[in-house]
Amino acid sequence: MERLLLTTLLLPLLSVDSATSNLEGQSLLFPRESATDYVLLTPQQQKPLHNFTLCMKAFSDLPRDYSLFSYATRSHSNALVLHVNRPGEFSLTIGHSEIVFRTPQPSQGPFHVCVSWESSTGIATLWVDGRPQGRKGVNKGYVLGAEAKIILGQEQDAFGGGFDEKQSLVGEVWDVHFWDRIISMKRTGPSCQNGNLLDWHSLTFQSSGDVVIKPKLWR
Ligand SMILES: *[C@@H]1O[C@H](CO)[C@@H](O)[C@H](O)[C@H]1NC(C)=O
Repeated sequence: MERLLLTTLLLPLLSVDSATSNLEGQSLLFPRESATDYVLLTPQQQKPLHNFTLCMKAFSDLPRDYSLFSYATRSHSNALVLHVNRPGEFSLTIGHSEIVFRTPQPSQGPFHVCVSWESSTGIATLWVDGRPQGRKGVNKGYVLGAEAKIILGQEQDAFGGGFDEKQSLVGEVWDVHFWDRIISMKRTGPSCQNGNLLDWHSLTFQSSGDVVIKPKLWR
């Protein structure tokens, strides 16, 4: 009983404990299926987003769908969601509207995915392993709210919660970068460094549950 009380008192204190680290060469590992393990990312600036580019590398061999990146606002828990439906099939949700990109060579290995979106036209572009996978329109005119919870490892169905273990990531992610603008893939090359909202080399985050940081296995 006492221990329970102590835990209840400590948890809110621990949960505000976020730190900034350089995760270069490191990977965030989600070792088990759960509705409790996740990483909350704090962007370098909070601002409404008219445009964005998101790049990340990931590995999972889950046979089911899973969430890669979940950006929720109070009004839209699915303000921005990047989801893998099956190997090589990505779904992008902007303000609860979803589009699907099917890539021609679904691979089981680690992948590097980048997606950009522009509010004024609604056009989203997806790249996998540095190759463009086409452009589609979604939710033209929408603006992502500034006050957001950005979560890796789980998909939010509420602001900062509402997790479903059947959408959790079992696997790992690394080299996550997020910009408030459209990044030219030709200019940055396949490495996609130095996000101005989220930068893997200076990442402010807080992990909950069983999340392990390990040197990355893949480039
Ligand atoms: C978003 O991008 C469009 C064109 O790509 C640009 O005209 C507009 O100024 C950008 N908006 C913001 C807020 O950066």
